[in-house]
Amino acid sequence: MATPDKCSMQKLTRVLPVDVSKIGQFIFEDPRSSFLRDWKLELSATGEDAANLQEAASRLRDSDTPVAFPTETVYGLGADATRSSAVRGIYTAKQRPSDNPLIVHISSLSQLRSLLSTRQSTSEATQDPIPAIYHPLISRFWPGPLTILLPLPTPSPLASEVTNSLPTVAVRMPSSKLALALIHLAGLPLAAPSANASSNPSPTTADHVLFDLAGRIDLILDGGPCEVGVESTVVDGLTKPPVILRPGGISAEMLRDCPGWEDIQVAYKDGAETGAPRAPGMKYKHYSPKARVMLFRGRMDLSSARKHLKDMGKVGILTTERWAQGPFQTDHQRDELPNHASQNGESTQQSGKVSDVSREFHQDPQLATPMATVTAQYSEMHLSEGNYQDVTEVWAIHLGSDIADIARGLFSALRELDQRNVDVILVEGIDDSGGGARAAIMNRLRKAAEIEISL
Ligand code: TXA
Ligand code: MG
Repeated sequence: MATPDKCSMQKLTRVLPVDVSKIGQFIFEDPRSSFLRDWKLELSATGEDAANLQEAASRLRDSDTPVAFPTETVYGLGADATRSSAVRGIYTAKQRPSDNPLIVHISSLSQLRSLLSTRQSTSEATQDPIPAIYHPLISRFWPGPLTILLPLPTPSPLASEVTNSLPTVAVRMPSSKLALALIHLAGLPLAAPSANASSNPSPTTADHVLFDLAGRIDLILDGGPCEVGVESTVVDGLTKPPVILRPGGISAEMLRDCPGWEDIQVAYKDGAETGAPRAPGMKYKHYSPKARVMLFRGRMDLSSARKHLKDMGKVGILTTERWAQGPFQTDHQRDELPNHASQNGESTQQSGKVSDVSREFHQDPQLATPMATVTAQYSEMHLSEGNYQDVTEVWAIHLGSDIADIARGLFSALRELDQRNVDVILVEGIDDSGGGARAAIMNRLRKAAEIEISL
């Protein structure tokens, strides 16, 4: 494909804020039935929020350029799933390989049923087109971060680019009210992958989308940071036993509780190799920042990191459950370097700053604050060790020990450290033996990591 002239393809990308509490009123058929049954939106006649939402909905109907919007998991890049030219716009904007199928987002079960209904035999027409195996999952987890594989109807109303010759289509009803309102107003099923440039970490704020796709799309709806922070769980209930294709917030254990799902199996592979760098070219790059990511399980051990790293330069550190004080301050490190805290009166105080800044980071993920002073301190410690002369700067982000916080902040932190131009990011992995959101976090980290070190 010829490379298009950069100037001629440059578009102005507008970021339109939408406060969902100001768009109008959601009206339910039955006040207890939430979004699963039919519902309406009485859009406010005045106000910027409703107008912005409406502008996005009409773009989705009329234009071939996709629109970015928040969901509860990550920001999506949406297009009319029934129109090939619109769906192709997604692949172009993201530079996504065209063989990677897309998730279709719907706003009600009746919308899904009418998508799946074929005009074939009457007996089929009277049957529910949603296979029974999914009924318990839908009533329990929708709307929400769960994607199910459904048989693609023939003839299919969906653009072939959505499913790319697969016999199934992946569908999800998001719980984000903004996303639901947008799908409802557009009156369309929306094909929407995560709104990052292909292979980058998924976006959890409108700024992340802008950073990746500025000039490639016209509109980003800004509904604030995403609540969940990692993408939906993807399951296939059409196979026996049913399988999880991608871990997310809805865990295997939660699914196992549903009738028909007791034997659910894991059918995804976690990426990184243990202890050694992967062969170049073997790496399936995904969720990756520019910097090399080194994932630690258990304790941090800088000397084993050292075996894999030449010239560390600028170092980013992402801490989670146990390195709350920073990896240079773990019990293990303190044992190894017993005199540092007392030699350097500021270091304990400095690690106090790590958590202070991280609290700010949680309140506003766009606000990950540079920690140059802390960093300089830590670097000096290791300069004096003689083994880390090449470490010029250390930037640290502590995500907290709460699993929901870690999931929420993960992609944002990887992006933030990338913007600091670090050469390597050392990440404190978490114990994912319990599955759930832990499995989702470690799955994304393994895909981003070049090396996983278990100690
Ligand atoms: O939370 C999410 O799922 C987000 C938000 C925007 O909804 N979307 C998202 O989409 O993560 P994407 O395209 O980045 O990931 C979709 C995943 C891919 O791994 C894709 O291969 C898989 O779902 N997928 C889609 N259709 C499929 C199908 N028919 N069979 C198997 N896998 C499918
Ligand atoms: Mg994605």
